[in-house]
Amino acid sequence: MDAATLIAELEPTVERSLEQHLASAKEWFPHELVPWSRACDYVAGETWDAGQVELDGPVRSALFVNLLTEDNLPYYTSTITSLYGNDGAWGVWLRRWTAEEGRHSIVLRDYVTVTRALDPVALERARMAQVECGQIPRPAGPQNGLVYVALQELATRVAHHNTGKLLVDPAGQEIMKRVAADENRHYLFYRDLADAAFQIDPSGMLLAVEQEVRTFEMPGTGIVDFSHHAKAIARAGIYDFQIHYEKILLPVVLRHWNLEALGGLTPEAERARDSVLERIDRIAQAGRRTEARRSAVLTN
Ligand SMILES: [Fe+2]
Ligand SMILES: [Fe+2]
Repeated sequence: MDAATLIAELEPTVERSLEQHLASAKEWFPHELVPWSRACDYVAGETWDAGQVELDGPVRSALFVNLLTEDNLPYYTSTITSLYGNDGAWGVWLRRWTAEEGRHSIVLRDYVTVTRALDPVALERARMAQVECGQIPRPAGPQNGLVYVALQELATRVAHHNTGKLLVDPAGQEIMKRVAADENRHYLFYRDLADAAFQIDPSGMLLAVEQEVRTFEMPGTGIVDFSHHAKAIARAGIYDFQIHYEKILLPVVLRHWNLEALGGLTPEAERARDSVLERIDRIAQAGRRTEARRSAVLTN
């Protein structure tokens, strides 16, 4: 199905989901969650000292990647606008979503600055580099876009939630909980749209699921030292294959979208279904191996 037809047919669902999203939204304020009383000025010539705050390396990596990803919002917004346009309910949603995501980078940056959790010089240089390179996943069309954002919002929710669990600081935990709750609402919005798209264009959506599962990357690939941080994040169990399978692919792709039960598919989509199911199975196996290795390290 061509992009314009799908986007037009999804418009009533966008309107309905947007209405629900706005009606159930609870306003919150970054400044109320940030522990300002812990702040102190950097004196002239002072450099950041990691020893000022006790925090494991992987948690610092997660805060760094999560924050820089939120900072890269201009590119997500422009990609989503280029896929779905900026008119009607789609435009209202995209602008609202952009504003909500902006709140995440505000609260995270204020938190890491006040608590000295991250080196502010390295962080600012990395922000400049990240935004200047403007690297984000660019889904091939509207079907791919819906699959990607649904999976990515849920993955981001899980990453924020798991980062929060490893923070000892209750203020940090509360912030990560609040941001994760927003990401969950974004996930539900995009999942609703993807559900409607499956009704309208099941074969197109199945092809998109196959491509997006095959090429899925957590946001942040343009971040300085991304693979080093991603490995640390995986080692700490904040986000890895096992979590990707258990928290994303199994509940959303296999159970919610229930690929195996989809009917009326083209032969190409049938092949894509076989291929994606096989791939998910391989990801599950990789996840079990990762889990076994982690348990072995912990017991030794
Ligand atoms: Fe966000
Ligand atoms: Fe989000």
